[in-house]
Amino acid sequence: MPEIKAQATSMDMMCAESPAPPCILVIFGASGDLAHRKLIPSIAGIAQRGLLNDRFCLIGCGRSQLSDREFAQGAIEAVKKANPSVSLTVLKRFEKQLTFQSGNYQDPDFYRQLLQRIEALNEEYQCEHRVLFYLSVPPSLYGPIAEHLGEVGFSHPHGNVDWDSRLVVEKPFGHDLASATELNETISQCFKESQVYRIDHYMGKETVQNILMFRFANAIFEPIWNRSYIDHVQVTIAESLGVGERGGYYDGSGALRDMFQNHLLQMLALVTMEPPASFAADSVRDEKRKLLEALRPIDLKTLNQTFLRGQYAAQGDQPGYLQESGVNPESTTETLVAAKLWIDNWRWKDVPFYLRTGKALAAKTTEVVVTFKQVPHSMFSSAGFDDIPPNVLVMQIQPQEGINLSFQAKRPGSKLCMGTLNMHFSYEQVFGVQMPEAYERLLLDCMLGDQTLFMRFDNLDTAWRLLDPVLQQWSESETKPIPYPHSCNSFAELDHLIEADGRHWRKIQ
Ligand code: BG6
Repeated sequence: MPEIKAQATSMDMMCAESPAPPCILVIFGASGDLAHRKLIPSIAGIAQRGLLNDRFCLIGCGRSQLSDREFAQGAIEAVKKANPSVSLTVLKRFEKQLTFQSGNYQDPDFYRQLLQRIEALNEEYQCEHRVLFYLSVPPSLYGPIAEHLGEVGFSHPHGNVDWDSRLVVEKPFGHDLASATELNETISQCFKESQVYRIDHYMGKETVQNILMFRFANAIFEPIWNRSYIDHVQVTIAESLGVGERGGYYDGSGALRDMFQNHLLQMLALVTMEPPASFAADSVRDEKRKLLEALRPIDLKTLNQTFLRGQYAAQGDQPGYLQESGVNPESTTETLVAAKLWIDNWRWKDVPFYLRTGKALAAKTTEVVVTFKQVPHSMFSSAGFDDIPPNVLVMQIQPQEGINLSFQAKRPGSKLCMGTLNMHFSYEQVFGVQMPEAYERLLLDCMLGDQTLFMRFDNLDTAWRLLDPVLQQWSESETKPIPYPHSCNSFAELDHLIEADGRHWRKIQ
């Protein structure tokens, strides 16, 4: 399809960013995979951008008996691997800011030692009593760690020191509605909502945030962003890889909990919520809550027509899910979920929202596709154009970040000839920079105390309320997820979910 490329009108559009204030970051699970692949390299990335305060230090925590030096060396190696853009000068300075505290997270003594360490570093680095606790540990430890931190004085009701402490919690936040509620009750006995930063790393992606900018900083889209002009919306998060090394965790989770309950529903909320009055944390999160509350409860009697679960099967030399290490060979855990949802409010009544996410599909791609209604009448039918294709707006979140709008145009020539054109904006071509890692943005926001991109509990709770009945029905059901071949683009049942309504999925590519 021919393309018209977007021209940047101003190339100096990289933002001036706010530098982090002095603080101590404590990472629980600091020798783990997430810390090495994402967290520590992202902090180094913040330093590389000149935004990390000189009065910053990091305490890694873990069970291994590492000296400060050994931990720092491992961390620097991890940064070099994950974020090669960090210069040697920055790395040298960063290395000196790294320390390690080993111990058992269930042992109260560990927390007393940690407190002493934090006090000493706060004195040495003048961190103004600002301390962030990042829980990059199995979810079963979130509650106990929060309680222990409360006991040694970081909690709001028992605090004996004037700490400005924040708790950063990775997903999954709970396994279902009951466990999420229980976890929240435990945490909220020790930390106020304003101290809790629940991470959904999709919210740190530049292009996800751009959904709000696109909708609410342009006057031309909002008037047509509703049931009168939009036929349907598709939100897709497809991954080309299978579960790899994460089979053990994933088998107890599945695509509905791992991707749908959080990333997909959060993206849907950004695409469909009402305009918040400001870009302040609670304004945005209030609107997200209202939107999630407006999602129509899922009718279990027709579940098979609106919700589909799949599991990838072996294809050629690619293993099926059941052959992955750490996975129960009899597992009924789904690696793909697709659903049709409705939003029962004035703006979206009767507009279907098709959501899908899956592992081991044909390509890695995340996108929002908004298909507008067709023109009400074709004046070109005498030239054979009865069925004029609708305009389609694609917000490509990754990997080719950009926005694409298709429209019809006349092809040159004396005959009345029509063709679809694409107006295309590519982040890379316009800004010429790589997208910053989502964790860089989120960690910086934690340091700055900005909760806008983090999940307030009522947002999570509403999502769990919607999906809990589905989880329950699936766990009680005799039926298994539908097998689909590794690396496929689609399969009959997945197609049927949307084609039954006379629509088609956009190809995963
Ligand atoms: C995580 C999920 O939240 O997101 C993983 O637990 C998934 O299963 C990952 O692979 C995908 O993230 P991204 O940023 O690579 O799209």
